[in-house]
Amino acid sequence: MISKGELIEIYFKKEEANLNSYPFNLPFFTQRDGLKMHPKVTYFVGENGTGKSTLLEAIAVTSGFNPEGGSFNFNFNTRASHSMLYKHLVTSRGVHRRTDGYFLRSESFFNVATEIENLDRPFDDDGFPLGGGPKVINAYGGKSLHEQSHGESFWALFIKRFRGRGFYVLDEPEAALSPAKQMAMLLRMNELINEGSQFVIATHSPILIAYPDSLIYEFTADGVQVRTYEQTGLFQTYAEFFMDPAYMVSRLLRG
Ligand SMILES: Nc1ncnc2c1ncn2[C@@H]1O[C@H](COP(=O)(O)OP(=O)(O)OP(=O)(O)O)[C@@H](O)[C@H]1O
Ligand SMILES: [Mg+2]
Repeated sequence: MISKGELIEIYFKKEEANLNSYPFNLPFFTQRDGLKMHPKVTYFVGENGTGKSTLLEAIAVTSGFNPEGGSFNFNFNTRASHSMLYKHLVTSRGVHRRTDGYFLRSESFFNVATEIENLDRPFDDDGFPLGGGPKVINAYGGKSLHEQSHGESFWALFIKRFRGRGFYVLDEPEAALSPAKQMAMLLRMNELINEGSQFVIATHSPILIAYPDSLIYEFTADGVQVRTYEQTGLFQTYAEFFMDPAYMVSRLLRG
């Protein structure tokens, strides 16, 4: 159970941070004092390597999640390390307590699926989990996430496991989803938001950032800027490409 209220603002504590090395040399940290969070959805967009995942992870860790992802109850460790940025984040939070939460890292969701199997593994000779209680996988619809397609397992997470009144921190949730499912995800987000949830999402999807009541931050080499949907490089690049794909490709191939 989570005891923290909604995230209102994060501040970057720069004392004793070496601004010449990772993660403190990333432009969002050197150029900004902090970022306000939207009560419903905050998006991080921008080029590869601009620091979206680094900041998302720090927000997740400071909110009580395992750095590798999962719900608040997960506490496994298969990666070497996570950045120390979370020690330099100060958060301002509201009074609306969350009863659900999830940190999705697309890259390590496989490890989350394995961890669920480990937690549910029968330990005694009669085949019952040692701790008793319901299996963890039941919260995801009952079918092992390893026995579903990449997209099916993500969809089971959003539809079955996310329960509302939650704090959901998602890193590229579109990674496994078809465009139609990404649109359906907007609908699912809307349901969860109407049930008092808050999202922070890093994404390269022009569909996912279309949720209207939201705040979009674009990460660049110059720091972080607030953008409208149409102002984002993400929207503009796709719009330009789809306006005339054949022309765009021929221009690219000509160098
Ligand atoms: N452990 C690390 N040590 C040093 N540098 C790192 C480490 N992890 C990431 N970086 C660097 O920090 C920068 C930001 O990485 P990050 O993963 O936060 O980017 P991102 O905006 O999420 O990119 P993408 O869109 O590709 O997911 C990158 O240049 C990356 O090489
Ligand atoms: Mg990333």
